Amino acid sequence: MLEPTLDPRRIPAHIAIIMDGNGRWAASRGLPRAEGHRAGVRAARRVLEACRDLGVRTLTLYAFSTENWRRPADEVEALMHLLAASMRDEARDLIEGGVRLRISGELGGLDPALRAQIEQVVALTAANDALVLNVACNYGGRAELTAAARGIAVDVRAGRLTPETITEATVAERLYTAGLSDPDLLIRTGGERRVSNFLLWQIAYTELYFSDVHWPDYERAHLVEAVADYQRRRRRFGGVEEG
Ligand code: IPE
Ligand code: IPE
Ligand code: MG
Repeated sequence: MLEPTLDPRRIPAHIAIIMDGNGRWAASRGLPRAEGHRAGVRAARRVLEACRDLGVRTLTLYAFSTENWRRPADEVEALMHLLAASMRDEARDLIEGGVRLRISGELGGLDPALRAQIEQVVALTAANDALVLNVACNYGGRAELTAAARGIAVDVRAGRLTPETITEATVAERLYTAGLSDPDLLIRTGGERRVSNFLLWQIAYTELYFSDVHWPDYERAHLVEAVADYQRRRRRFGGVEEG
């Protein structure tokens, strides 16, 4: 079901979201931060559903950054538990809903059991094609670009690549997001106006949208408003006005 306010021909193919504000949402209710993260998972489910209804092809969700390890151990643990629980609880819905799970980030940095669980859901949903759910987990844009640079250096040293033949595609195909289109729309909730090391390469021409709503309060209507705002913009990619 498409919203009457939206132009079905201009639905962003790829939406990326920095899901921020869980801690403040919890604090404003006198709840522990982990409760905010739990409510955040419910919001993620709503938004995934809404994206599928709207015809969005790829949804990237920033779940855990390489810098989030700096948080208190109990909060990191709560987040990892939630991730594991989500893999367990959502797998069936993802499979039946035609959603393909991808991960952007360094899975090697996670607990091996959690990693195995994630990889299992990735494998189980590999043939799905209604929507790609790309979860950025243990993700950092600088770490991603550093790893790509290292991979290119290794290939040059081994003679598989020469400096002259390195192109933008050489870099892009070494990123976690290889094969995915760049985000058309990046939404950050929670009121901050920054990108916090998210998709630094990929958002070169992405439209940015900031919402003051704390992530656990994010509803379908907020997403529809963000897409409506996107549809009022004119993207030029450095060129001149289309049409
Ligand atoms: C975003 O909410 C969730 C993660 C970073 C995992 P926060 O936990 O950053 O919430 P605030 O910004 O402290 O309110
Ligand atoms: C960005 O939010 C990371 C995720 C949403 C996973 P943060 O709350 O970690 O970002 P900063 O610290 O406010 O920049
Ligand atoms: Mg935050």
